[in-house]
Amino acid sequence: MKWTATKIKALKGVRKIAMLTAYDALSGALVDAADIPVVLVGDSLGMTVLGHETTLPVGMDEMLHHTAAVARGVENALILADMPFMSYQPSVAMGLENAGRFLKESHADAVKIEGGMFRAELIEALVANGIPVVGHIGLTPQSIKEMGGYKVQGKTSEQARTLMDDAMAIEQAGAFALVLECIPPELAETISSALSIPTIGIGAGAGCDGQVLVFTDLLGMSGKPVPKFVKKYADLNPIISEAFSAFKSEVEAGSFPADEQTY
Ligand code: KIV
Repeated sequence: MKWTATKIKALKGVRKIAMLTAYDALSGALVDAADIPVVLVGDSLGMTVLGHETTLPVGMDEMLHHTAAVARGVENALILADMPFMSYQPSVAMGLENAGRFLKESHADAVKIEGGMFRAELIEALVANGIPVVGHIGLTPQSIKEMGGYKVQGKTSEQARTLMDDAMAIEQAGAFALVLECIPPELAETISSALSIPTIGIGAGAGCDGQVLVFTDLLGMSGKPVPKFVKKYADLNPIISEAFSAFKSEVEAGSFPADEQTY
């Protein structure tokens, strides 16, 4: 069954929603085969695959290219494309045009944008034009320079109130789900109870309606330290390194290819 924005929204209060990032046809197909209902082509692509320090250098061409690749590997999951930095911030018209490109050119089903109540006008315009939207508040990596680092947000009561107002405005504007990143678990639970759309947490505790993780973090692929909120369900980095070293040794020793690998 193909997942749609309406079906994802209807899962609130019925069952928790798993979301995982993917960046190409192979990772998309693996996520889809696990029956995970939402695959996020995150702009975390910048760090996980393209070797950047932040998400800021990622552009539309790269996101369109990788979203299209994920779409070729996915049959059932909803394909959620992250709108990259400066593809929607300058104007509603630019946001609308670029979001449309994800659906027209890359077969995305929906887009995700970062930011609070000041994004309401854009969300309304997208939804009015048939583009399903997921919001993203709390730690918003595209604002990392302004935030001064990857820190937990919403710790003071004033910040918590602002985040609640942001969440309400995003729901009101027509988003079908909302990502809550790195906020205190009590606040995430309060926001989740106040909204009728599902919240998807990352570093926001167990009280959200769903959880999202980055593909390479969950699989322990990078060999680099991961944030506290990550659970490594596998530790593939040493396994991959070992396989590569074994290949190199066998090539150097002349034992690969053996008869079984030879025509
Ligand atoms: O880019 C991304 O992977 C994300 C998730 C961390 C939510 O936005």
